[in-house]
Amino acid sequence: MKIYNNILETIGNTPLVRLNKITKDVEATVLAKVETTNPGNSVKDRMALKMVEDAEKAGLLKPGGTIIEGTSGNTGMGLALVAIIKGYKLICVLSDKQSKEKMDILRAVGAEVVVCPTNVEPEDPRSYYSVSKRLAEETPNSWYVNQYDNLSNRQAHYEQTGPEIWEQTDGKITHFVVGVGTGGTVSGIGKYLKEKNPDIKILGIDTYGSVFKKYHETGIFDENEIYPYITEGIGEDILPKNVDFDVIDHFEKVTDKDAAIYTRKIALEEGIFVGNSAGSAVKGLLQMKDMFKKDDVVVVLFHDHGSRYVGKMFNDDWMRDRGFLEEGHQSAEDLLEHHKDQPLVTIGVEELVSHAVAKMRTFKISQIPVTKDGEFVGMIDETALINQIVDNEQIKDEAIGNIMGPKLPVVKPNASIKELSKLINKDVPAVLVELENGKFHIVTRHDVISAMS
Ligand SMILES: Cc1ncc(COP(=O)(O)O)c(C=O)c1O
Repeated sequence: MKIYNNILETIGNTPLVRLNKITKDVEATVLAKVETTNPGNSVKDRMALKMVEDAEKAGLLKPGGTIIEGTSGNTGMGLALVAIIKGYKLICVLSDKQSKEKMDILRAVGAEVVVCPTNVEPEDPRSYYSVSKRLAEETPNSWYVNQYDNLSNRQAHYEQTGPEIWEQTDGKITHFVVGVGTGGTVSGIGKYLKEKNPDIKILGIDTYGSVFKKYHETGIFDENEIYPYITEGIGEDILPKNVDFDVIDHFEKVTDKDAAIYTRKIALEEGIFVGNSAGSAVKGLLQMKDMFKKDDVVVVLFHDHGSRYVGKMFNDDWMRDRGFLEEGHQSAEDLLEHHKDQPLVTIGVEELVSHAVAKMRTFKISQIPVTKDGEFVGMIDETALINQIVDNEQIKDEAIGNIMGPKLPVVKPNASIKELSKLINKDVPAVLVELENGKFHIVTRHDVISAMS
C-alpha cells in the first residue's frame, strides 16, 4: 500500500510549473514553484510543522498545550493541521485587513480566531503583535509561535523548499523571485541556493507601505515608508529576525493595483489559481525582466491558493471599488460582445420617418444609422425624432433624408472606451465600429455608460 500515515506527511514536494503566457515578454525560462498542493494550500505548512517540532524538542510546547500565533491566515492554517494531528489547541490572532475567507477557513479547522485592528502601531496594545503576546502570557501551558522571529521558520525552507527547487531545476536555477513577509521563505531558500551556487540572484518582492526595500538599500528603518496597503502576505512595518537581508540581492516594489490585476491574470492566462502575493511576484518579475537573459532559469514562488481571495481580488465589485479594474483598457469590440451576433439595424434614406419609428419600437433601439447605396449618410435619433414629431405630426410621412442627423463617427474595433467617450456626446448618441470582416456594428451611449459603471 502506498499511503501517508497522516496529512502532515503530504507536506512538500510541490510541483515546478513552466509559465507560458504571462511571462511571454521575458527571454528566460520562468518556472513557478506552486505551493498550493500542500494540504493547507500554502507554503506555510512547511514552516508551521517545523516550528512546532522544534518547540516540542526544546520543551516549549508540552502535550495538551495551546499554540498561539499572530497570523495572516496561511501560517494559522498550517498550524491548525499540525495542532489537530498532534492534539494541541490553537488561537490565531488576525488583523482586520485579512480576508473573511481566511478567518472562516481557520475556524473550519478548529482554530479560535481573535481579530485586531490593522491601522495601529505594533507597540499599541490593540495591535495583533501585542494581543498575541498578551494571550500567550495569560494562557496556561501555551506557546507563542512568533513566526517573525522564530528562526525555525526560515530553517524549514533551508531544509526542504530550497533543496526541492535545486533538484527540480537540476541546479540550473539562476534567479529566485519571491514575496517577503516574515522573510522565512526568501531567507531559507535563498541561503540554501547561494550555498549551492553563490551566483544565483535572490530577488525579494516588497509592497509600497513596507520598510524592506529602503532598509535593504540604505540601512535606514524609515517610518515614513510605512502606510496601510492592500496587498496580503508581503511587506512589513517591522524588521522580522527571519529576514536575512544578506542573502537578498534586490527588493522590487509592486503596487496594490498591479498585484491584484496580476493575481487575476495568473488564473486566466496560466490556469494557476493562486493568491495575491503570487500576482505581486509575477508583476515584480516582469518589472525586472531586463535582468534576465535567454538561458537563465528564473523560479518564482506562489505562496497560497486563490480560493482565499474570492471575496477580494477575484471579485469585480471589490476591484471596482478600489479602481483596480482595467476598464479603460476595454475596447469597442468588447462592448459589442452582447449584441455582436445580431445584425446592425439600418434604414434607407428614402424610407419614411414612420418606418424608423416602427423599427425603433420593434428592435427596442434608440438610434438607427441611415444608408444610401450601401454607404452611411446619416442617423436617426430617438430624442431628436420625438421633438420633431411633437412640433409637427405630419413629419411621420416625410422621407428620412429630410430630417436625419449627421452620420455617426466610425471607429476601429480596438478603440478604447476613453476614445469612444470623447466621440459620444449630446448630439452624437453612438459610434459605428468597422469590424475586420468589413461589416459594421454600433456602440451606443448606453453601452459605454454600462461598461464604465
Ligand atoms: C500569501 C502569502 N504570501 C507571502 C508571504 C510571505 O512569506 P514569508 O513570511 O515566508 O516571507 C506570506 C506570509 O505570511 C503569505 O501568507
